[in-house]
Amino acid sequence: MKKIIAANWKMHKTYEEAISYVKEIKGKNIDFEKKDVLIYPPFLYLCEVSRLLEDSNIKVGAQNVYFEKKGAFTGEISPVMIKSCKADYVLIGHSERRHIFKESDELIRKKVISSLEEGLRVMLCVGETLEERESQLTFNVIESQIKLALAGLEDYADKLEIAYEPVWAIGTGKSANPEDASRVHAFIKDTLKELFKKDANVRVLYGGSVNSQNAKDFLSAPNIDGLLVGGASLEPNTFLEIINAF
Ligand code: 13P
Repeated sequence: MKKIIAANWKMHKTYEEAISYVKEIKGKNIDFEKKDVLIYPPFLYLCEVSRLLEDSNIKVGAQNVYFEKKGAFTGEISPVMIKSCKADYVLIGHSERRHIFKESDELIRKKVISSLEEGLRVMLCVGETLEERESQLTFNVIESQIKLALAGLEDYADKLEIAYEPVWAIGTGKSANPEDASRVHAFIKDTLKELFKKDANVRVLYGGSVNSQNAKDFLSAPNIDGLLVGGASLEPNTFLEIINAF
């Protein structure tokens, strides 16, 4: 399976910083035969980042979406708008959306469906909190997040990626170890197979304190098909080291 390395900038960078990052990374040597590379900038810069990357192999996605196509939803952004900025991907159910903005599984499912119907690729984030992990609930939480978001969507399997991001590993400098992550990834693939009643071939990315030192270990572990990088993606040369770690 072709690996995918994604940068989630979250709420970082001014317009100038975003543009200069993109210009810098665009000229770098990346083996696109071996990997897909993807950037999730803040909404404000999505159109401009897409335009600048139009003639490159680097893909662009939105960090969030609302499920309605248009209407009186002040401050929200629809899948149609994301498409019109020529972005291909959308990140849905990130732990910061689930926990800080209290997004429910029901809302996440609506976002997934409307984005897929609009032709976007969806990267669904799942992951357990520290408390859930310590209560041995990791697999239950992951299974429920996947099933609630994706039941009945087997026809869209080739438009999906899953990012496994343990909440306790995000932004903490305490990454999962690749063996543990690999076990959860295998479980995610089994869950999808059961749900979709077929081998879904969905790529499963790991995210949570990935850096240029640990990237290779994750990418070498079975069932880890890519990385979703937060903090360490904010500097183009560090992100490039991660991209080229494998
Ligand atoms: P960090 O890489 O900063 O831990 O963030 C991970 C993440 O949430 C990516 O979506």
